[in-house]
Amino acid sequence: MADRVNIKKILDGHCTGKEVEVRGWVYRSRSSGGIAFILVRDSSGVVQATFDREGVGELIFSRAEQSGIETSAVLTGLVVEDKRAPGGYEIKGQTMEVLGPSNNFPIGRDLSDEFLLDVRHLWIRSQRMVSIFKVRSTVFGAIHDYFRSRDFYEVQPPIITPAGSEGGATLFEVDYFGKKLYLTQSWQLYAEAMVLALEKIYTVAPSFRAEKSRTTRHLTEFWHAEMEMAWEGMEAVLKHGEDLISHVCQAVVEGNPSELEFLDREVKYLRGIKPPFPRITYEEALERLRSAGVDVEWGKDIRTIEEKALAKMFDKPIIVTHYPREIQAFYKRTDPQDPDLVLAFDFIAPEIGGELIGGSERESDLKTLEANLLREGVDLKAYDWYLDTRRYGSVQHSGFGLGVDRLVQWICHLDHIRDAIPFPRTTTRYYP
Ligand code: 4AD
Ligand code: MG
Repeated sequence: MADRVNIKKILDGHCTGKEVEVRGWVYRSRSSGGIAFILVRDSSGVVQATFDREGVGELIFSRAEQSGIETSAVLTGLVVEDKRAPGGYEIKGQTMEVLGPSNNFPIGRDLSDEFLLDVRHLWIRSQRMVSIFKVRSTVFGAIHDYFRSRDFYEVQPPIITPAGSEGGATLFEVDYFGKKLYLTQSWQLYAEAMVLALEKIYTVAPSFRAEKSRTTRHLTEFWHAEMEMAWEGMEAVLKHGEDLISHVCQAVVEGNPSELEFLDREVKYLRGIKPPFPRITYEEALERLRSAGVDVEWGKDIRTIEEKALAKMFDKPIIVTHYPREIQAFYKRTDPQDPDLVLAFDFIAPEIGGELIGGSERESDLKTLEANLLREGVDLKAYDWYLDTRRYGSVQHSGFGLGVDRLVQWICHLDHIRDAIPFPRTTTRYYP
């Protein structure tokens, strides 16, 4: 009886001289001189199998020869070392059973980005996508490891919410039995309630933004890793941001060497992502941009194009702190040293630009918080429950949100964020 193995085990040299059974999908097939060559893939790798017409007989040979791309099959055969075969090993095929035929698989070579997005449900099987998803899996695992090993509790905020926290412009409406509710932009308001119960909390959950800006780093549905701590100010959570990003990079270096190689991503670079990260204030960022010929007026947000210019100046994520009060969300604490600023920070991705993390200390003074909310022009009634967090035993607390898809984009060095997630949602993409 042939042992059932995954392809990686063969490629790692653990099956040489043995009869094996492999279950997978045909990646490519051709024949020449009475030999059918098939490349078979499973989730662990791609290996060549050959079927000799003389040896296996006409039936099996023609099955192998005629199997279309993405046919699913069970093969058995003897593993031999063969320097000419991709990966250095080959299965000398003995039997082949077709499980799911596949004729005229729609994806060939040189197809446009738009077409590949239309057939995303099939394109996700490609080696490139599979490599990215393996890195993505490591990234999510490493985020959970990071927080759990530091005694943070994982909590689950609601997705359907009565009020936003990150500005009305990007709220998605939900018709909730005739009432207008919204998809969550962030766990923000709920975290500030939960942190008074559990003190150190985190979540990894989807967030939604009706972002009309079509950029290479915006999704309308993205995965958000958020943390919140009681009794701590901006410094402590900022430090966690550095340590978390470094921890995730090291986990990918450890866990995904072959995927990084496939994606042509330099391991040495990711290994070097260790704290401390370069740190500048908003004011200094404007000065640096000005010296680089990019003018941003004080009080304006640092936009994608300016972030790109900043990203070029450093080779690690850049921390920008102390943003102007007027462009920042109501819950961020006003700087006691300067009422025009908030104790807030962003981490900007090097190389590609784009904000990886946004965080701050939170305003704990009820009156200031109410005034900030009124300035945003919202109905205070919708926030009344939230204001109870300041009415009953408020304490200093701080936290941040990390865009996990953006982190994957940067780690894998992808041009577009949509390739960091299996089924991207953008202004124009919601199918499949
Ligand atoms: O800076 P943001 O809007 O911060 C918040 O939502 C805070 N309430 C987080 C907190 O303090 N708990 O979003 C945080 C991060 C951004 O830095 C970015 O990485 C990601 O979420 N993000 C997006 N990622 C992909 N597509 C989008 N449309 C994103 N919007 C934000
Ligand atoms: Mg932000």
